[in-house]
Amino acid sequence: MLKKDEPSSSQFCFDICQIPNVKLNASLLSENTGQLECFKNGPRAQELASGVVLLKNFINLRDQVKIIKKCRELGLGSGGFYQPGFKNGAKLNLQMMCLGKNWDPETKLYGHRRPIDDAEPPSIPVEFKHLVQKAIKTSRAFLKKTSNSIEDMLSKMALQETSNSMKDMIPKMSPDICIVNFYTTSGKLGLHQDKDESEKSISKGLPVVSFSLGDSALFLYGDKKVGNAKKVILESGDVLIFGGKSRLIYHGVAEILHETAPKLLLDETNLRPGRLNLTFRQY
Ligand code: SIN
Ligand code: MN
Repeated sequence: MLKKDEPSSSQFCFDICQIPNVKLNASLLSENTGQLECFKNGPRAQELASGVVLLKNFINLRDQVKIIKKCRELGLGSGGFYQPGFKNGAKLNLQMMCLGKNWDPETKLYGHRRPIDDAEPPSIPVEFKHLVQKAIKTSRAFLKKTSNSIEDMLSKMALQETSNSMKDMIPKMSPDICIVNFYTTSGKLGLHQDKDESEKSISKGLPVVSFSLGDSALFLYGDKKVGNAKKVILESGDVLIFGGKSRLIYHGVAEILHETAPKLLLDETNLRPGRLNLTFRQY
C-alpha cells in the first residue's frame, strides 16, 4: 500500500507540491517576509574535505520558495519528473527531472532527449544559474581566505602549495546540466561518483554544485562503503560544492529526515514531505 506521502500518479506526472499553489496576497507575503529575513542564522561556509565546501543556509527562504515553484512547474510539464527504472526492473528511489541535457541512469549517457518518452529537457532557468555562480564565487573566496590564515600558511609551506592552487580547489564552472531529484520521505540514493560528464570537465575538476530544499538529508561522502563514509546533514537552503581533487568523491543520500523542512517554506509552497535536490554540472 502507498504511504500517505508517496506518489500515487503515473510514471510521468509527479507533483512535488500537495495542492495547487495558492498565490499569497501582497500583505501576507510582506508580513511573512519580515519573519523570513530573521528566520535563521546567516550563511556560513565549512570545508568538509579538500575541494568540498558546504555553504550552510546559503539560499534564503524567498529564493527557496522561487526554486520550488519553478521546479514544480517544470516538473509537471514535458520532460518533467519521472521515476527512473532499469531494464532489470529495479527503480531509483526518487523522482528525477533533467534540465539542459538529459542524463540516462541506465546507459549513463547525456543526450538531447530522454529515451523513455523522447521529451527534450527544459532549459536551466537563468536565476538558478546566477545562484550557482554566486555559490562558486563564495566558496572560492572562502577557500582563499582560509588559505591565508596563519595555520594554513604554515601547512601550505609544508605542502609547497601556492595561493592559486588553494583557490583552484574549486575551479569556475558554467552549468549546462542540472539534475533535479525529489526524494519522498523513504527516498535514498546509494553511494556513487558523478563521472558521466566530459573527460575535460572531470580532469579539470569543474565542480558539482548541489542545492538542498525541504526536508533535511543524511548525506554520505568520502568512501564507497557506507560504514566508512563520512556523514553530514544537509538542510533546506544549504549548498554543497565538490570539485578539484574531490570531483570524483563518492557520495549518496542515506536517509531523509522526516518533518525537518522549515515550516514557512511549507506554508509558502505546499511542498510534499520530502527533499528537493538540484545538482548542477558542466558537461
Ligand atoms: C546526486 O548525487 O545526484 C544527488 C545528491 C543529493 O541528493 O544530495
Ligand atoms: Mn551524484
